[in-house]
Order: sequence, then structure tokens, then C-alpha cells
Amino acid sequence: MNIEFAASRTDLPRLVGRIVGEGPLPQGTPDLVVQGAAAARFAGKAGQTFEAFVSGPAGLSRLAFAGAGDLASGNRRAALERAAGALVAKYLTSGEETLAIDFAGSGLSAEEATAVLLGARLRAWQYLVYRTRLKDEQKPSLKTVVALDAPEGTESLWAVESAVAEGVEFTRELVTEPANVIYPESFVARCQERLAGTGVEIVVLDEQQMADLGMGALLGVAQGSVKKPRLLAMRWKGKAGTRPTAFVGKGVCFDTGGISIKPAAGMEDMKWDMGGAATVAGTMLTLARRKAEADVIGVCGLVENMPDGNAQRPGDVVRSMNGQTIEVINTDAEGRLVLCDALTWVQKEYNPATIVDLATLTGAIIISLGHEHAGMFANDDLLASQLDAAGKAVGDMLWRMPIGPAYDKLIDSPIADMKNVGPRYGGSITAAQFLARFIDKGVAWAHLDIAGTVWIDKPGATHDKGATGFGVRLLDRYVRDVLEG
Ligand code: BES
Ligand code: MN
Ligand code: ZN
Repeated sequence: MNIEFAASRTDLPRLVGRIVGEGPLPQGTPDLVVQGAAAARFAGKAGQTFEAFVSGPAGLSRLAFAGAGDLASGNRRAALERAAGALVAKYLTSGEETLAIDFAGSGLSAEEATAVLLGARLRAWQYLVYRTRLKDEQKPSLKTVVALDAPEGTESLWAVESAVAEGVEFTRELVTEPANVIYPESFVARCQERLAGTGVEIVVLDEQQMADLGMGALLGVAQGSVKKPRLLAMRWKGKAGTRPTAFVGKGVCFDTGGISIKPAAGMEDMKWDMGGAATVAGTMLTLARRKAEADVIGVCGLVENMPDGNAQRPGDVVRSMNGQTIEVINTDAEGRLVLCDALTWVQKEYNPATIVDLATLTGAIIISLGHEHAGMFANDDLLASQLDAAGKAVGDMLWRMPIGPAYDKLIDSPIADMKNVGPRYGGSITAAQFLARFIDKGVAWAHLDIAGTVWIDKPGATHDKGATGFGVRLLDRYVRDVLEG
């Protein structure tokens, strides 16, 4: 969707919307429209929308209102974003091609107007490349949002924020693509294409290079697939002279479970088991596009987990890159096996001060937190509080979960240094505990289990049903406030 700016009221499109808080409609609203809103019980509450037809210069005009609720309390930016999302959702397939959002007399700051535009753009995104038979009325018609009389400074803020939208959209695209299209090699190719010319440096390791480095845990997962694994590193060096920050993503392009195979029902969801890697890739695109003043490395461990004559078996012992051995009790607990080698590699290669990993790691986190929060596990209270604050600011919510020695001993193995699963209960925690064994002393580390937030079957305020792009805005906000702040 295009976002444009206009100050002139000649040539207004037929559809003009306003975001309003709770209370009376803006001054100058035609009396009959005010009465109509009252009759329809529109009061500017969050989630409410109202439309009036009025006679305009060229015949029919549509005046639309979206409620942002009580703007005097709470997170105004979030409320405005959500209202803009509701407005766009209402008109996405309405036949209208252009929506003007009128900021005149709105009292919004440039930051807040930017939030409106971001909410509008994010809600509009859909991936329709495989829909060849959509009826006209199913096709999205809305192509452009015109910001009318936006507050001074909105346009330059939008230049930054549109980089965020681009990153979120790239993540959603990678997550939405099926596994016959996005597999390790094509994931890398898509990133190379999208990041070309941005200044992001890309390093790709193939199977032989990973074998030479001793990445037995990652390669054990990959060995049952005809799709070759890859390790992808993307570096945005927008600042020199500090230890870098690393974002590490689980990129299981399809997770059948392997020999510990999953049930058929719902297995198609496992195309988005690369959501952590997609979040990392989208974040790198955002950071580069807005030329963030930070040194960030994004690493994606890319494999496919398949059952096969050559697949690893339950009970196999593999040796990870840092020398620790792992008894693979359940081949479906593969994400941690991929991540442990990616984590070891990034620490050896780049010596980051801070690591945040993102992974659709456990079904158990969905049992714990549903789709409203991702689980956060951290060895550092400051990092945890910074990520929590970043998430709250942008609406990518985190909930901190515990780790500690009592959980750690649950993954001891009688034959190897550890096993890849613990007992049934506390499954997200023992998964995090497994990863913690691969973090070097002195490194601040957080693990975000995003299994419940990458994909949601129902539309939300700023996303359609499907891929959410969760995490890109969170990481971008963390970079702004902590690394650039
Ligand atoms: N990718 C899954 C976790 C998952 C489940 C993500 C549902 C999104 C939705 C992961 O690889 C997995 O299979 N985890 C197992 C771990 C178990 C074998 C200890 C799980 O959660 O059941
Ligand atoms: Mn699995
Ligand atoms: Zn998985």
C-alpha cells in the first residue's frame, strides 16, 4: 500500500476518514453526520467505526470515522495504530482505491500521525500471489492512503517508519510462503535479493563448511532432507568500535517432526517454523533501510526436518560445534539442535556482547501464553527489562518465564552431556535451559519463544489472518532505544 501526503483539499478522494477519540465528533462535522453517529451508537470507542454518505463536490462522498478510545490514558500510539487498522480493514475490499485520512484539527503530534500511517499500512498487507481466481469483490481495492494535513514533521518520520513496515512485510512474506517455495537455499536467495544494495554484508555457509566447523547438531536435523541446510549471516554495521549485537533465528523451513513424526492434522502449520529466522531477516532489512547507528548481526540456522532412510533416529548422539554431546531423544525437538550450533558459531565468529534468539520453539509456550505474549527467557535482568519495554512500546508483547538450575538438571543424559528433551511439564523452560548451555559466560542473552505469535488464524488490529510479523518492531525498537539511544 502506498502512503502519500497532501495539504490541498481540492481533488479530495471520495472516501475521507478520521481517527477520533472518545467524545464528540470534530468541529465542522456536518450536523446530520453527528446525528447519524449518535443514532448508530458511535462514540469513538476503540474498535468502533462509522460511515456517513454526504454530498460532496463531485456527488457522493463517504465520511468515515474510526474510534481510538480514550486518548487521555494508556498508550496513545498503539490506540491510534489500531484505529487506523480498523479503518483500513473496513475499506480494503470496498471498491475504493484511495482513502484520505484527515488530520486537520486532530490535535495529533507528528509521531502519532506516523503511528496512524503505520497501522494503516500494516493492516493492509496481504499475500495474494497464489490467488488466481479471486472475484472482483474479494480483491483488495485500496491502494493508497493519503495523509491530509498531517502535522509538521510527519513526512520525515514516515521515511523512517516505512522502513519498519518494509521489514515487517518481508518477514510476513517469508513466513507465508509454503515450504516447497521457501527452503534453506531459497530463503537465502530471497534475502540476498531483498537486501541487495542496502549495505548489509551477507555470509552463507553450506553443508560442507558446517561439517568442517563441527556443527553436528544442526546437521543431524538436516540429514533426513534432500534440501541442503544453510547458515545465513547478515551484518549491518552502522557503527564501529563496539561489540556487536546478535539476533539469531530458528529457520526450520518445514518441521515434520522427523522420525518422531507429528500427527497429520495441522502439520501444514510447520511451514512457518522458520518464523524466528524470518523475523531476523525482516529486522535486518529495517535496520539497513533506516540506516540504524548500530552494529547488528542476524544469523539464521536453516534446515528442513524430514523423516527418511538417512534421518537421525531417537537415541542418536550428536556432537555440537562447541564440543558438547547431545542425546536426541525426540527428533521433533529439533529447533534447539539447530540453534545451539548457530549460537556457538556467532559467539566464536563475532564475539557479540548481547544475543537475542527468536524461535517457534515449543507448543508448550502456546499452552502457557496463548497468542497474546511471546515467552521470554533471559540470563540478564537488564536485557529482559529492555526487551520488555521495547515490546510494550510497539505492541509485540513479551512475558518473562523462569530459568534456573532446578530446570537445567532435567535435561541431563545418562549417555551424553545432555538430552534434547526434558519431562512433559515445563517444556518451554527446559528448551530454554538447553539453549542456555551454549551461551558463553559474560554474554547477555535472551530467548524469545514466538511459537504462539508468528501466525494467528484470526485478523488482528494491525494484521490480517496469518503471518503477523511479530518481533520485527520489537527488535527495531530495542535497537533504537538501547543501542542507538
Ligand atoms: N516447531 C515445533 C514447536 C511448535 C509447535 C511451533 C506448534 C508452533 C506451533 C517444535 O519443533 C516442536 O516440535 N516442539 C515439540 C517439543 C517436544 C518434542 C519436546 C513440541 O512443542 O511438541
Ligand atoms: Mn519439532
Ligand atoms: Zn520445530
